[in-house]
Amino acid sequence: MSRRLAVFASGTGTNFSAIVDHVRAGSLHADVVLLVCDRPGAPVVERARGAGVPVLELAPRRFASKADYEQTVLDRLRLYRVDVVVLAGYMRIVTPLLMAAYPNRILNIHPAYLPEFPGKQGILDAFHAGVAQTGVTVHLIDEGVDSGPILRQVRVPRYPEDTLDTLEARIHGVEHELYPAVIESFLNAIESEGQ
Ligand code: GAR
Repeated sequence: MSRRLAVFASGTGTNFSAIVDHVRAGSLHADVVLLVCDRPGAPVVERARGAGVPVLELAPRRFASKADYEQTVLDRLRLYRVDVVVLAGYMRIVTPLLMAAYPNRILNIHPAYLPEFPGKQGILDAFHAGVAQTGVTVHLIDEGVDSGPILRQVRVPRYPEDTLDTLEARIHGVEHELYPAVIESFLNAIESEGQ
């Protein structure tokens, strides 16, 4: 198997950049061959252009249906011979169409210790809940929201003096090391399974 990754993202793209940086540093043996962005003009698009990664920018509302949107995405994944899809702040549910095309080959990162605080605001929800620790989870996706087999998760402390900003920065710092490392382990595992 080759190690051709498509990263899907909707926003800032710090995880996208962390993945690209680890590829460049030689600690992640993969090629980031495509960025798929569902929010045209999001900052992650500039990051990809700066890194020389081809971009597919699409607004799903311009399509007749979710299936039409995903079919267009899937066609591009095939064109770029993508092996593994990496969701990195992609704020959209992946439908069965893509899941069927990439069974057990779509990874997601979530900024909480699942099943705690699923959804779009994992950091904010943990902050407001006043917990002493939250975390970061990398998992394979299934039909649910932030569910699916967990590949790795780590705890991140929340200190009494934390503001939302300091907690967010700590979680992102963990994500930027954890995600490339888990992607590398995942690629090694499927390679040794001979798939
Ligand atoms: C990350 O914290 C990621 O874990 C989260 O979005 C952020 C994207 O940041 N994903 C989710 O909440 C998925 N439910 P980034 O655009 O700077 O990488």
